[in-house]
Amino acid sequence: MRILVTGGAGFIGGHIVEAALARGWEVRILDSLDPGIHPGPPRTNQAAGLLVGDVCDAGAVAAALAGIDVVVHQSAKVGLGVDFSDAPDYIRNNDLGTAVLLAGMAAAGTDRLVLASSMVVYGEGAYTDPAGRLVRPGPRRVEDLQNGIFDPRDPATGRILLPALVTEDAALDPRNVYAASKLAQENLASAWARSTGGMAVALRYHNVYGPGMPRNTPYAGVASLFRSALARGEAPRVFEDGGQRRSFIHVADVAQANLRSAEALSGGSLHPGGFRAYNVGAGEVHTIGHMAAVLSAQSGGPEPVVTGEFRLGDVRHITASSARIQAELGWAPRHSFDDGMREFATAPLRGAVD
Ligand SMILES: NC(=O)c1ccc[n+]([C@@H]2O[C@H](COP(=O)([O-])OP(=O)(O)OC[C@H]3O[C@@H](n4cnc5c(N)ncnc54)[C@H](O)[C@@H]3O)[C@@H](O)[C@H]2O)c1
Repeated sequence: MRILVTGGAGFIGGHIVEAALARGWEVRILDSLDPGIHPGPPRTNQAAGLLVGDVCDAGAVAAALAGIDVVVHQSAKVGLGVDFSDAPDYIRNNDLGTAVLLAGMAAAGTDRLVLASSMVVYGEGAYTDPAGRLVRPGPRRVEDLQNGIFDPRDPATGRILLPALVTEDAALDPRNVYAASKLAQENLASAWARSTGGMAVALRYHNVYGPGMPRNTPYAGVASLFRSALARGEAPRVFEDGGQRRSFIHVADVAQANLRSAEALSGGSLHPGGFRAYNVGAGEVHTIGHMAAVLSAQSGGPEPVVTGEFRLGDVRHITASSARIQAELGWAPRHSFDDGMREFATAPLRGAVD
């Protein structure tokens, strides 16, 4: 198998490259080595061919695609960013980049795509009422949050809802520019599949963590923010009451989900229709407060501080049902939360942005 990993010098892409090489696959990387992300030279495996180039550059994409069976598209501008002035940059890197890549694939006759998507396309997680019926929550009320009532209410009855696992059929509700750009990537991939006869899998990663995660930046995930605080000798600051539920997933498991998807695509065993989305999250559900406590304990640092602070746009609970990818592609996570967090507490992070 010959794969092209866009963003292969990044956190998740780097783990995909290593896992694919370990399987004996031929790997090419297309990565712009964005200096904001890579303050120093990246540590890419020499066995992979590294092309330094922008996915928005049709010439670079054409060169990268020569002889490739499956494209594993990870390059993106990630995270929530600083403010709305970041919007054009998100759309350029994520959506223009995906359009240029897909046009290049159509021209080259490369007809298999694995796309890195995200749980952010859902907005909120799934909730039920006490009778077990799925209910879409309304926006959380400021007075509730000020009074320490963080769980969303049933808009019809005002009763507090119960968290449930989100499935791929849930309504999509991208709530920020990054989320909108990730959903647009999925829509572009679906349109490409329909128009060219190609096949695409979109993997909706949940909270990814593990070695090589970027440090404390406006684009970093919560696990990395806690690790960076502990590295400075500070207590992790946990918002709300720390009870926010997530499906933390180890980056090595995410890499395996990508390889499994590439194999399924090259075997032609994809669900009919050319495009299929899958959640990629751990079966175990943990809270953000628990994760902070485990990281503090494992690194011997100060205990987390639960601040009660809140941000109106934050998602209260979002946890994955990964039943679809398990049933259709045979992927299941291998890393337990306890082992993964023990390793992550002292694992090297990327970049020196503390
Ligand atoms: N990290 C997470 O928790 C998470 C969760 C959900 C989805 N994702 C998705 O996974 C993918 C990988 O994320 P990551 O955490 O590894 O990010 P990352 O920032 O570590 O890696 C992204 C890589 O893409 C490269 N890149 C960015 N723009 C480019 C462009 N225009 N052309 C070529 N290369 C470019 C960067 O140089 C970098 O090496 C992204 O698509 C992201 O949206 C990540």
